[in-house]
Amino acid sequence: MPSTPWIFICPSSRGIGNALTRHVLRRTARLPTSIPILATTRHVDPGAAKAALLRDVFPMPSSASVSSLPSSSSNGKQRLPNRQKQQQQQQQQRRRRDDLSKRLFVVRCDVTDESTVAAAADEARRLFPGDTHHLHLACVLPGVLLTPEKSPAQVDADAALQSFRVNAVGQMLVAKHFFAFLPRRATAMPAGYEWDDELDDEDEDDEDEDEDEDEDEDEDEDLVEEEDEAEEEVRGKPKDAAAALRLPQHATWLSMSARVGSTTDNRSGGWFSYRASKAAVNSITRSLDVQLRARAGDNAMAVAYHPGTVKTDLSRDFWGGVPEERLFSPEYAAERLVDVVCGLGVEDRGRCWDWKGTEVPP
Ligand SMILES: NC(=O)c1ccc[n+]([C@@H]2O[C@H](COP(=O)([O-])OP(=O)(O)OC[C@H]3O[C@@H](n4cnc5c(N)ncnc54)[C@H](OP(=O)(O)O)[C@@H]3O)[C@@H](O)[C@H]2O)c1
Repeated sequence: MPSTPWIFICPSSRGIGNALTRHVLRRTARLPTSIPILATTRHVDPGAAKAALLRDVFPMPSSASVSSLPSSSSNGKQRLPNRQKQQQQQQQQRRRRDDLSKRLFVVRCDVTDESTVAAAADEARRLFPGDTHHLHLACVLPGVLLTPEKSPAQVDADAALQSFRVNAVGQMLVAKHFFAFLPRRATAMPAGYEWDDELDDEDEDDEDEDEDEDEDEDEDEDLVEEEDEAEEEVRGKPKDAAAALRLPQHATWLSMSARVGSTTDNRSGGWFSYRASKAAVNSITRSLDVQLRARAGDNAMAVAYHPGTVKTDLSRDFWGGVPEERLFSPEYAAERLVDVVCGLGVEDRGRCWDWKGTEVPP
């Protein structure tokens, strides 16, 4: 009997993690096999976080949007009366939400507080016993950009340590408690699952916001450009469109990195703490992958990931320096992450990949 896969997303509260959780929930909504998802939040009330996620995945159609439908279409075919149509849509959304509610689990986890990471793992053990389940996709994304220092004079030890605690040590602690859920060599891996491609994504509109630029911003713009230019330079790994619609072929541990974590491609300097913490993420990911190679062979691998520049709270101060077409919505970033990770093979393991599926230099 093949092992049942489950998906882990840490955290799901904001930004890319939130969009990713919603994307994965939608994409797995009509799979023949129910794939459970464990998402984390630092919120004291995970139940409220879960309700908010479900509400956002399948919003109820408003009376206004439905009542604006014409009662007959342009080709003369009779449409259902508006009220009936509205009720049907609402019932359908309610059914979908109920289905999702049964396979979405939200637990508290603050990666700087190991007791919460351990408690989250305890809950995972209860929900997904190792003899019947394996962790198939883990996206470990917690991150802070506290002090984008322009020179060493601006380094603040406490802020630097906090960046490391969340971005690097936090990722290690999550691995410490969740690695055992990944498959081993002997795990009976299931055949590939198709993602549901029929549901249209309901991207939320991004509001354009004008940002004032301060006089120091030039250097940060250089840094953002470093990311953009570098992305142009890297040769594209062709995206496998078919693979993009499946669960990853191999169980995958994805650690969120950033292009600035590349040591060999650091052309702008600055952002000492954040850069170094992301370089650490790349190093940790490599070590995790070595571990997985020995333990799971081709059944599981670890990769690091750079999502591009994404319009989230973390990057808010730099939105002004990024051309609109280079500033991705969290929803697009989530979609790309899933597409890229589903297209990676064991030959790609242990390295850092970006949103285009190109390798980020170490
Ligand atoms: N945005 C970009 O342009 C960009 C570019 C490259 C890489 N990244 C990386 O992508 C990841 C997600 O960032 P984002 O852009 O989505 O930023 P975001 O919107 O600011 O979200 C950051 C997330 O990290 C969580 N977090 C912070 N401290 C935590 C802790 N101690 N324990 C658990 N979770 C914690 C936050 O949870 P709360 O809601 O509880 O605060 C939030 O969910 C980060 O690793 C970031 O470095 C982002």
